[in-house]
Amino acid sequence: MEFIKVKNYQEMSDQACNIMIDKINQIEQPVLGLATGSTPEGLYQNLIEKYNQGQVSFKHVTTFNLDEYVGLDREDVNSYYRYMKEKLFNHIDIAMERVHLPNGTAHDLEAECQHYEKQIQQAGKIDLQILGMGINGHIGFNEPGTSFHSSTHIVDLAPSTREANSRFFPSIDDVPTQALTMGIETIMESKEVLLLVSGKQKAEAIARLAEGEISEDFPASILRNHPNVTVIVDEGAMAKL
Ligand code: F6R
Repeated sequence: MEFIKVKNYQEMSDQACNIMIDKINQIEQPVLGLATGSTPEGLYQNLIEKYNQGQVSFKHVTTFNLDEYVGLDREDVNSYYRYMKEKLFNHIDIAMERVHLPNGTAHDLEAECQHYEKQIQQAGKIDLQILGMGINGHIGFNEPGTSFHSSTHIVDLAPSTREANSRFFPSIDDVPTQALTMGIETIMESKEVLLLVSGKQKAEAIARLAEGEISEDFPASILRNHPNVTVIVDEGAMAKL
């Protein structure tokens, strides 16, 4: 696991953007794993800027998002599908038929999880997976206690995660209680992982990631066993290292 230490959120987003553009430009049919949340917003803004400047094209890119809420329609203001369209896809030349998010309104959610996993395998696995990390070490929506051997599955969201995400909803009662997420094993099968961590609220989590034990109690810790992980971390998040 390689740590790149940067000053602030902007620098983290700039470095992540450069890594991602290099990857897209190196591979003929790149497959990217994408995250939502606050952390990658700056990265997505940068990608749009670079696209507008003609430095990157997404024409041959396939994407798989980590997760989606259960019960929210694709076009719901809080769905991750809508987030991705507004923050990235609407502004670049990606082919929407190559964009994938789990369908949280599927009639048979178990079948949807299996189908999603199959689509990732058929695409030839993820070349570069972008990750953020929750304060409890969750990656995707894999909360503490999730099996390291999990594939895409349905999860009950931890109270701390619902609370953290309630900032986007009218009230905490409106935050869905379940989500579909790539599993830990799905994430670990990515060829390369780029984890972005910013802000002092994540300082404890970064210290645990760097120095704690590898345990299902802290899902991100498994990344230490992955052969190709880069963590871009800013000064705030490094405060307890
Ligand atoms: C979202 C996701 C989550 C977030 C995590 C951090 O797709 O996978 O694991 O990365 O909850 O969220 P932010 O970036 O809002 O701090």
